[in-house]
Formats: sequence, structure tokens, C-alpha cells
Amino acid sequence: MASDNAARPIGVFDSGIGGLSILQALREQMPREDFVYIADSCHAPYGERNATHIEARARAIAAYLRTQHHIKALVVACNTATAAAIDRLRVEHPGLPIVGVEPALKPAAASSRTQRIGVMATRGTLASTRFASLLASVQGDAAFICQPCDGLAEAIEHAAGHDDATDLIAICARYTRAIGQFGVEVGQVDTLVLGCTHYPFAQAHLRQLVGPEVAIMSTGEPVARQTLRLRQALPGEAAAGTGQVTLAATGRADLLGLAATKWLGWNGVVSRLTLPH
Ligand code: DGL
Repeated sequence: MASDNAARPIGVFDSGIGGLSILQALREQMPREDFVYIADSCHAPYGERNATHIEARARAIAAYLRTQHHIKALVVACNTATAAAIDRLRVEHPGLPIVGVEPALKPAAASSRTQRIGVMATRGTLASTRFASLLASVQGDAAFICQPCDGLAEAIEHAAGHDDATDLIAICARYTRAIGQFGVEVGQVDTLVLGCTHYPFAQAHLRQLVGPEVAIMSTGEPVARQTLRLRQALPGEAAAGTGQVTLAATGRADLLGLAATKWLGWNGVVSRLTLPH
């Protein structure tokens, strides 16, 4: 049994290219592991769809990764899908280690000095009961200004295939302006939480907008550390794969390939995948 686990890949999925920000961190922590990444781009953006639809997609993807790739662990590299589906996935796959992603509210509350924290996330994440409980668990002295960012994940997908980032910059500017005044003085927002795995790919633009002193928090590294912990607890820990990454998309395979080349230095062929609904 031990060698079975060691030979299997880790499954990772998102609505599109955003989960590559998590995959990047996973590969840094576990360079010899094999990964299979699914971008469900045919059903993107998840953040503006209802939770029932996202849950159905997550279940179909998890079932596919288990039956076709025999994954030994699953990383839900999407805040929206984690909020909508992780509880159900854990019930349906009791023996499978499953790691989700949630906005970094706790570290933000612990490190913010002005106690004013901006949160950018999808509408779906912010409306979820999971996010409400997370917010309730950290709400004390800190004020969280939560901004649903309709269209931002799509603009990031679009920018992956084009040189012109004008629209992406405009949309980032609109949402940072809506959050308020950024800075490290009393009354200013000194911490910005990126509550969607797409948003780290707009970090350079966001940095320009919020200034050099504001802390920008994302979740790739803690998710990778947690995955490594669970992976080490599996039988067959000593052996690993060959560091192979397999990418597939239910929609725009070209965008996933371009983004993976640009951000991960990956080069290979992205396969096109059709999954039952
Ligand atoms: N990357 C996803 C997240 O972390 C969602 C983007 C979308 O499809 O709306 O929430």
C-alpha cells in the first residue's frame, strides 16, 4: 500500500489560472511531487455563480481526479470552491487528505497595526457561511472592509493572454479605491488580504495602487505547508514522484498554457478535458 501512495500525484483545481499561484507554492515545498492541475475554465468565473453549481463542479472534478489519476491528496486551490464545497468533498472522500484555501484574515488581524484591513475576494466567497464564521472568529478590534471584486478574476485571465493590462489596472484601481485610503497612519488600511487565488497575479498592479508600506497577504505558502504536513503523514512518505506537472482545462487550454509558462516557467501541452456536470 505504501508504494501506491508514493507513486500517485496530488490533484489541484480552480476555476481557471488562479490556482497556479497555489501550485507554484506547492512545487516550491514539494519539488519532487507530481501534480495534476485542472482549470475548470468552461464554468468560470466561480465567484459569480451560485454555490450549488460550484459544489457540483467540485464533486465532478474530485471524482475525475480520483478515478483517472488516482490522486493521493487534493488541494482545492480556490477560495470560492472551498467555501462552497469542501465540507461535502470531505464527506464523500473520507480517506483522502483535502486542503482548502481561505482568505488570510487571521494573520492579517495579528499583524495589522492600524487595525484596518481590506479584503478583496469574489462575491461567492464573501457571501458564504464559511467566510461569515471566519470573519466572526477574528472580529474584535480590527475592522475588515470586504470588497466583492466582480470581473477581476476574468480580467486576470484575459491579461494572461495579452500584453495590454489597461483594463486590469482600471479594475484594480476601482476596487482598491472602494476599500478606502491605504497607508500606515492611524485610520488607514495597512493590510490588504487577497482572498482569491487569481489576485496574486495582479499583485504588481495592486502594489502600485496601495503603496510600498501596505502588507499584501495571500495564501499559497501556508496552503503548501499544510499539504506537505498531510502528505508526510501518508504511508510511503519517503518516496516521491518525478516532479511532473500535468495541466488540463475544461475551457481555454491556451490561456492556462500561457499563464503556466509566464508564471511557472512550465512548458508542455495542456490537454482539453470534458467532465460530466
Ligand atoms: N480563483 C478563485 C478563488 O480563489 C475564483 C475565481 C473565479 O472563478 O471567480 O476564489
